[in-house]
Parts: sequence; structure tokens; C-alpha cells
Amino acid sequence: MPKDWYEWHDLYNTEPKLQQRLEIVREYIAYSLNASPDGAIRIVSVCAGDGRDLLGTLQNHPRAKDVSARLVEINSNLVERGRATIESLGLAKQIEFINGDATLATNYVGAVPADIAIACGVLGHVAEKIELNRLINNLSFLSKKGAFFIWTRGHSDSISYSDNVRKILSASGFEEVNFKLTATGNMAVGIHRYLGENLPQPKEQQLFVFSGIPSKAR
Ligand SMILES: C[S@@+](CC[C@H](N)C(=O)[O-])C[C@H]1O[C@@H](n2cnc3c(N)ncnc32)[C@H](O)[C@@H]1O
Repeated sequence: MPKDWYEWHDLYNTEPKLQQRLEIVREYIAYSLNASPDGAIRIVSVCAGDGRDLLGTLQNHPRAKDVSARLVEINSNLVERGRATIESLGLAKQIEFINGDATLATNYVGAVPADIAIACGVLGHVAEKIELNRLINNLSFLSKKGAFFIWTRGHSDSISYSDNVRKILSASGFEEVNFKLTATGNMAVGIHRYLGENLPQPKEQQLFVFSGIPSKAR
């Protein structure tokens, strides 16, 4: 059992579910970059971990030079590792890794509205439907009209938790672009497009509450 979120990231070395999830997330990030019009592409990543999904994609993507991104993560060791990767890729002028609370609107000021918003390993850690609704509603602050939203949601005990995510997204002005389950069958990865208007000011400062713990990560 991982004791913290830094240790949780070691599971990427051994767990097919996480490895397959990462592969699909990177595929969707690359798709969003390819589909973005010429010019600057703004990206935000919520609870970014060490940023391996975005940074691993930018490593050899032709649109990397157009990207400016802000990754928000609370674990300082993960931020340190992410920053080292950014340095090694020569992307330090374009990508900032904030060591802070991703649930607070203030940590996105200056980086939004984004063309691509990423929330991977997050939706399973907001308590119940009301909090999920709140997070998805607040995406209108993070996202431009037409922005891509890339997300993941684990399944467990034969419950297809992603059904609810898709339902709420669809009721909140998002159109599904693609959806896949990992080959392991218990992890969903989706990419949606936000069709609504951007909200220049957040409806509330607290965008959502993250209540997950690493030993029970889904
Ligand atoms: C399941 S991991 C997912 C990490 C990464 N997005 C990925 O998919 O590899 C959840 C992450 O959320 C981070 N986290 C938890 N609460 C947070 C908060 N309030 N603000 C920012 N990050 C937070 C944890 O430290 C952890 O890295």
C-alpha cells in the first residue's frame, strides 16, 4: 500500500491498469494538440502528480513549442520531479509547476481559460455526486469555449462509475470526443469538448474538494 502520493506513483512501474491509462491519456493529449488551431495552446493540469502524462506527450510532439502550461500539485516531491523533467526537456520557459492546492481557483489565475484541461486520477477522489457536479460545473472557469477536457475514472465492484461522469458532462455543456476503457477493463479515460462559454470569474473559490487517500486510490 503506498503511504503517500509520491509512493503511489511507483505503481506506474507495475500496474497494467495505470500503464494503460497513461497510454490513453497521452493519446488524447496528442489528439488535442493536433486538433488545436495554429498558435498558442494553453493547458492546465489539475492534481498533476509528476506531470508524466503531459510531459511525456510533449517530449516528442511537434506542437510542444506552442504550449504554455500550468500544472498544479500539492506534493512537493512530485513537483520537484516534474520540474526536473521540464528542465530536461528544455520547456522551463513554457511550463510552470505550481506546488499548491489544485482545488483553489486562485492557483489558475493567469493560466486560464485553457485550450486543454486535464484531470486524471481526480474524479474518483471527489466525494459523491454533488462534489463531482461541483467540479464539472467549475470547469467553465478553467476552459475556453471549445476546450478539450481529458479525464479518468476507475471502476470497482463491477460499478461503472464513468457512466455518471459522462452523464454529468453531457448535462453540463460537454460533448464526448472519445471514450475508452483500459484493456484491464476497470479504468475509463474520456475526452470531451466544452461547448459552453468561459466564465472569466470562478463561481466559487473552492472548485472542488479532493478527499482521496493514496492507499485507496482508484
Ligand atoms: C491519483 S494521483 C494522480 C496524479 C496524476 N494526475 C496522474 O494521473 O498520474 C492524485 C494526485 O492528486 C494530488 N493532490 C491531492 N490533493 C491535492 C490538492 N488539494 N491539490 C493539488 N494536488 C492534490 C496528489 O498529491 C496526487 O499526486
